[in-house]
Amino acid sequence: MSTLARVYVSRKVPPQGLDILRKSAQVQMELWDSDDPVPRRELLKKVKGCDGLLCVLTEKIDSELLDAAGPNLKVVSTMSVGFDHLSLDQLKKRGIRVGYTPEVLTDAVAELTVALLLATSRRLIEATHEAKTGGWGTWRTLWLCGYELANSTVGILGLGRIGVAIAERLKPFKVKKLIYTDVVPRPELAEAIQAEFVSMDELARQSDFLAVCCALTPDTQGICNKNLFSKMKNTAIFVNTSRGGVVNQEDLYEALSSGQIAGAGLDVTTPEPLPNNHPLFTLKNCVILPHIASASYTTRNAMSALAANNLLAGLRGEPMPKELQL
Ligand code: DGY
Repeated sequence: MSTLARVYVSRKVPPQGLDILRKSAQVQMELWDSDDPVPRRELLKKVKGCDGLLCVLTEKIDSELLDAAGPNLKVVSTMSVGFDHLSLDQLKKRGIRVGYTPEVLTDAVAELTVALLLATSRRLIEATHEAKTGGWGTWRTLWLCGYELANSTVGILGLGRIGVAIAERLKPFKVKKLIYTDVVPRPELAEAIQAEFVSMDELARQSDFLAVCCALTPDTQGICNKNLFSKMKNTAIFVNTSRGGVVNQEDLYEALSSGQIAGAGLDVTTPEPLPNNHPLFTLKNCVILPHIASASYTTRNAMSALAANNLLAGLRGEPMPKELQL
């Protein structure tokens, strides 16, 4: 009888992670060898009897799946920093350990957030479209004008590693003031970027640029709503690279189409993919990306390596490099 742990890998993750698993001589691995998500029914079948599961953020790890896996399952390792797709209470109840991939993606996400913020505030997508499609007549004084970071106030909703990394990158653009809100003040993080803790209302009122960096939890579900947008400046730019569920998209559409706020850059939406006939796609002042904040070769490989190492350590009963405390 084989002593190898049985693991299911629910997606073709980047090579670094797969190599680590293959070379470990610790697991007997079955892989959903595709760039597309494994069909739910197949996943439920494949996890049966597994000791470990390496998944990505499209897989819902809930009681149905954990029941299907059965009592052998000891470790779930997600190749993501976000864990809103995992039923943490169910995992905890069953004593299943969870690995995730914080830190290795901080730089890539912060970089993309800055790119998205600039693309939105300086209307880059609209501008290239105009240039390509004949809208570029002559140089005009106020054509395609946007908003600049110099002398602005940048607000961060949810100050963690990623919020700090975004702020560090924005500071050299001569930002005047950095503010943030969170459940409680985070002086240890805020100090590094000289950010002031404010209430949610003040964040809305003062921010010229508002970046959403909080995790999606029951408490943050839909917190970017009419109430928030109605307090924001008409010149404000809203950027979200966390999770779509944090935003009430109907309220955002209203805020953008009525001119309540100037623009929004979204890397995440509800659902994903956002259907191409979604009203947000009709708005010139809304830049939508297909959830690519961590999508650099280096980062995605590092995420897959960390997810693999978390899985292996968990299966050995050792501390994981990055374990979620349940
Ligand atoms: C995550 O890891 O949660 C990101 O959203 C995708 O990299």
